[in-house]
Amino acid sequence: MTVDPEATYRKTTPGSRALHERAAAVMPGGTTRTTTYFDPYPLFIERGEGCLLWDVDGTQRIDMLGNYTAMILGHAHPKVVEAIQRQAARGTGFAAANPVEVQLAALLCERVPSLAAVRFCNSGTEATMFAMRLARAFTGRPKIARIEGGYHGTHDYAEVSTHPALSEAGPPEAPIARPDSKGTPAWVLENTVVLPFNNADAAEAIIRREGTELAAVILEPIIGAGGVIPASVDFLRRLRTLTTELGILLIFDEVISLRVAPGGAQQMYGITPDLTTMGKIIGGGLPVAAFGGRGDVMELLDPRRDGNIAQGGTYNGNPLGMAAGLATMTELTPDVYDDLNRKGERVAELLAEVFASHKVPVQVNSAGSMFALHFTDRPVVDYRGVAGANKKRTRDFFLGLVNHGVLMAPRGMGALSTPMAEHDIQHFIDAVDTVVAEERPRWEEDSA
Ligand SMILES: Cc1ncc(COP(=O)(O)O)c(C=O)c1O
Repeated sequence: MTVDPEATYRKTTPGSRALHERAAAVMPGGTTRTTTYFDPYPLFIERGEGCLLWDVDGTQRIDMLGNYTAMILGHAHPKVVEAIQRQAARGTGFAAANPVEVQLAALLCERVPSLAAVRFCNSGTEATMFAMRLARAFTGRPKIARIEGGYHGTHDYAEVSTHPALSEAGPPEAPIARPDSKGTPAWVLENTVVLPFNNADAAEAIIRREGTELAAVILEPIIGAGGVIPASVDFLRRLRTLTTELGILLIFDEVISLRVAPGGAQQMYGITPDLTTMGKIIGGGLPVAAFGGRGDVMELLDPRRDGNIAQGGTYNGNPLGMAAGLATMTELTPDVYDDLNRKGERVAELLAEVFASHKVPVQVNSAGSMFALHFTDRPVVDYRGVAGANKKRTRDFFLGLVNHGVLMAPRGMGALSTPMAEHDIQHFIDAVDTVVAEERPRWEEDSA
């Protein structure tokens, strides 16, 4: 029997459909966050607890995404709720510094190898924007090099070649800077250099060519939203050596990868960048992000210095976010990371087994407690591999899982949270098994 996942979704989510119709009258497409929209309409969630979510129709699902990796302790963790309540009762924002921001800043500087100093902001987008500006100011150079298929948020400099059409992206070893969005200024494209991931020779040739113009190379040491693709150690080492030689700042965007170890991916790889951007887990579910790094670079922000770079922001270091972030990061001891990463490894193994048992070709990319599924028989080590996978299967699979009690990312990404117990993992794997069994006949028909 073949199953139509969209028909099932429409039948079982009337509350979300009705809300979406109302929302569409007041928000473009009925959404305020493109990344949570999916066809035919997004789920509307009423509440979450631990690793579970309930939609507005009262349907329970396992949350295999945790707000795109941010909710590492799951939803409504008692310690985080308590910290937020305590701070809310004491006031939620002042035009002044507050004691909690110092505690969270000290914790981050202690744990993350590259951080001599840190500054807070409100989103990963802001963190990468400020880090890039700082790099341009420090070096006096205009250009930023970034990885094709990496993701750094939504400011102008970030929205270049995150998911270019292959027909317009140039050769794999020399990608062309493509705007992700209408409205991207031409000067941004002129000042953005795009590098292939995990191809050290090609990246080096491009960096050497642009050398004296480049302020920074920014990359996720483990590509997150773009498909959970770890950099090879050789790739990172080569970038580290080369950027040092050429006076270019190396920025690790650890907005997602900070969840793999107390000191992030830089600790795991043993490679220290000049600047680091963070977000997601450090806010404990509230909008907090940060950037930091070398003392001689960060001191450009020191307001006591002439010509300092201003970093305004009504909500920078907001005490509510700082309290939630501090409560979350305090819970994350090294043992907690180890345990979560072990669960991540197990999920990746089980996923590979399920797909093999159905003889459906898939790549299970994983790193720590994150994974992504790519429907292709070739290893996925860069954007070109991601772009070459079967997108229709990814969408069918995603909707099928929603119908069977699991929320992942529409693009096939998942992230674990600490409250996930063995039975939650088993439930997830059983759902995957059922969905693949249901959809395989259609997939085989489509490819016949
Ligand atoms: C690596 C990376 N950098 C930056 C961002 C942007 O963060 P935000 O969505 O908080 O603006 C994201 C968001 O997913 C990300 O994954």
